[in-house]
Amino acid sequence: MCLLLLAALSLSISTICYRLYFKFIKVPSEIQRHFRQQGVGGPTYNAISGNSNELRRLMMMAEHKSPPDESFNNDHVVRQVMPHYYFWSKVYGDQFLFWFGTRPRLAVTDPEMIKEVLLNTNGWFRKARVNPLVKALFGEGIVYLEGEQWADMVPEIVASTNSLLAEIEVKIGGENRLEFDVYKEFNNLSADVISRTAFGSNFEEGKRIFEIQDQLIKIASEAMRSIIEKNDKTRENPKALLSLLMSPYKTKGNVEKRLGLNDIVDECKTIYFAGKESTANLLTWVFLLLASHQEWQNRAREEVVQVCGRDELPSAEHLANFKMVSLYSLQPKEQQEKSRNDNISMILNEALRLYPAAPISVREACKNVKLGSLQIPANTELFLAMAAVHHDPKIWGEDANKFNPLRFIEPKKHLASYFPFGIGPRICVGQNLAIVEAKIVVAMIIRKYRFVVSPSYVHSPFQSLTVGPQYGAPMIFSKV
Ligand code: HEM
Repeated sequence: MCLLLLAALSLSISTICYRLYFKFIKVPSEIQRHFRQQGVGGPTYNAISGNSNELRRLMMMAEHKSPPDESFNNDHVVRQVMPHYYFWSKVYGDQFLFWFGTRPRLAVTDPEMIKEVLLNTNGWFRKARVNPLVKALFGEGIVYLEGEQWADMVPEIVASTNSLLAEIEVKIGGENRLEFDVYKEFNNLSADVISRTAFGSNFEEGKRIFEIQDQLIKIASEAMRSIIEKNDKTRENPKALLSLLMSPYKTKGNVEKRLGLNDIVDECKTIYFAGKESTANLLTWVFLLLASHQEWQNRAREEVVQVCGRDELPSAEHLANFKMVSLYSLQPKEQQEKSRNDNISMILNEALRLYPAAPISVREACKNVKLGSLQIPANTELFLAMAAVHHDPKIWGEDANKFNPLRFIEPKKHLASYFPFGIGPRICVGQNLAIVEAKIVVAMIIRKYRFVVSPSYVHSPFQSLTVGPQYGAPMIFSKV
C-alpha cells in the first residue's frame, strides 16, 4: 500500500516537474532558438522571470534616475517612455525578442509589418491579454461611436473651455501674469468634457470617479453605477453616450436587448479612463510645444482670429477651417487636398507624433503566422513600438526629434509610419472627440492669452497609463 502511494506520489511529482520544465524551459528555449535562427536576437531568456526583472529595472531608472532635461526638447522621448526598447534596440537592433515572464514579445517597428498586424481582419492577431488590474480599471467594454456624432458635442466642449477661461480670468484679475499647471487644468477640463459629452453630466458629478480612480478601482465601479442609476439628466439627453448605452438595441435575429448594468459599467469605465488622460496629455504637449516655439504660437493665433474672430464661439464649421490644428484624415477628401496645398502647419499632428499618448500597441498571434519574412509561432506577442516609429530618422529624416509641423504638408509616407490613434478595426473610437476638443481648447485659449514655459518646469516625459509630463506643466500666461 505504502509503496503504491509512494509510486503515485513520485509519478505526480515527476508530471508536475515535467510540466514546469516544459512551460518554463523547453518551450521558451525553442521559441528563442526559432527566432535566433531567423536572425532575431534579444536579451537571453531567464527561466520564470523572462526579462521582467531587467525590464522593471529599466522602467524604474527612467522614472527615478535618468536626469530630467534642462530645457524643453524632444530628444529623449523614446528613452523615457519605453526605456527597455531604447536600450535593447541599441544592442540587438530594431527588431528583437524579449520575454514578459514566459510570454515571448517581438519588438516591431517596420511600418509594413505593423500595417499587416493592425489591418489584419482574418483574426490572426488579437489584442494581448492585459493585467487584471488594468482590466478592472478600464473595464472590458468597447463602444463604437462613428465620426460625425462628435460634431454635436462642440457646444458642450465650448462650455467646458469657457469655464476654464472664466477661472483664468478671475485668477489673473488686474494683473497681466498668471502661472499655473496646465497639465492639472487640462485633466479637469478633459474629465468635464467626457462627463458632458459621454454621460450628460459634468465634472462636478463625474469628479468622484476620477478622484477615487487612484485609490480604489472597485469603489470607482460603484460610483459609476450610482451615476448610471441616478442620473436622470443623462436619460433626458439623447446624445449622451450613456443614454445610448442604456437604450435597447436589436440583435441580428431582430431580438430587442439591453446591456446589463455590469456591461454598461464596463463601457463607461473604458470611455472615462481611455478618454480623459490621453486628451489631457495631447493638450498639455501642444501647449508646451507652442510655448517653446513662439513663432508657431503666433501663426496659430493669427489663424484662429482670422477664422472665428476674437470673441465668436467656435462652431463645427469653424473647426474645419483651422488648418494648422487639423488632421487630414478627419476631413473630406477634397478638403484634404485643399489643406495640403494651402497648408500652413499641422500642429496637432506633430504633437501627437512626438508625444503619442498611447505609445505602444500589443497584439498576440492566435496561430503560427508569417509576418514579413518572419515565421511567428502562435502566442507570440507583437510589441508595436509606436513612439520609436514616430521618432525614427529613417522615416522622418535627421530632424526627427525636432518640432516641425511643416513636415505634415506632405502626405504620410506610409500608413503605419504615423498612427497615434492606431489603425484598422481597433482604431481609437474617441479620435474625433479628442481632435475636436483639442481644436476648440487651443482656439479659445490662444486668441486670449500668450504663454511661455515656466522656469520651474522640468522636462521629463513619462508613461503611466499614457504619456504625460512627470512633474506637471507649469506655464506663465499673459493677456494678448
Ligand atoms: C489624444 C487622444 C487619444 C489618443 C492619442 C488615443 C489613442 C488610442 C490608441 C492608439 C488606441 C488603439 C490602441 C491599440 O491599437 O491597441 C486607442 C483605443 C481606444 N481609445 Fe483612444 N485615444 C485618445 C482619445 C480617446 C478618447 C477621447 C476616447 C473616448 C472617448 C478614447 C477611447 C478609446 C477606446 C474605447 C479604445 C479601444 C478601441 C478598441 O480596442 O477597439 N480614446 N486610443
